[in-house]
Amino acid sequence: MLIAPSILTADFTQLGSVLDDALKAGMSWIHLDVMDGNWVVNKTITFGPAVIKSIRERIGPEVYLDCHLMITNAEETWMQYVEAGVDMVIFHIEAVDSPKTLIRAIRESGTAVGIVLNPDTSEEEVIPHLEDLDLVLVMSVVPGKGGQSFMPEVKDKVLRFKSAIDEQISKGGKSTRIMIDGGIKSHNIGLVSSWGVDISVVGSGLINSKGTISENYQKIIRELP
Ligand code: DX5
Ligand code: ZN
Repeated sequence: MLIAPSILTADFTQLGSVLDDALKAGMSWIHLDVMDGNWVVNKTITFGPAVIKSIRERIGPEVYLDCHLMITNAEETWMQYVEAGVDMVIFHIEAVDSPKTLIRAIRESGTAVGIVLNPDTSEEEVIPHLEDLDLVLVMSVVPGKGGQSFMPEVKDKVLRFKSAIDEQISKGGKSTRIMIDGGIKSHNIGLVSSWGVDISVVGSGLINSKGTISENYQKIIRELP
């Protein structure tokens, strides 16, 4: 199980040192939550390609960057994130008219591709695309902000993806990875790991006033098998 920090709860004036601390603590994948002031229910704006470009310059080429696009026009703007330096574009199935076309376009740019679905979206909408995806991201909160409570009812969805992916692999297909995002902390990381999740996004569980990123990270990985 890999832990990918979300920087949403960081002090953005200190972003460079927050990133340095995450890398120093041993993390190798950073999750970037892009909101455009329109798509998420609470109409939040976070950051866009300009900030991502600076993040890429700060962390160097080796650290893996995914961007979780919570935006209305991913089909028109995804390339800006690739140009800013992300390794993977993850788009919401609910926000896109033609997922197949977008998957193909992202892949043709040489970038990895993932689909994310909201807690109330059925996994059946994503299953037909699974064999074309590097990653499926299961939201365990309603997207919009950090620090919300984990929704354990997404368990069945994760298990359904897990068995579909196992079947896909047994037929020689892609080993699509499962990521979970929202409310993951030291008290539930063991649980989601037991479901077969490959990557957990952790925001407020890592970046908070209770401890340093390194202390919080140690506390989380101690709970893993
Ligand atoms: C929610 C974001 C998440 C979230 C993670 O819209 O996609 O990445 O901020 O933060 P925590 O771990 O605090 O729920
Ligand atoms: Zn996210």
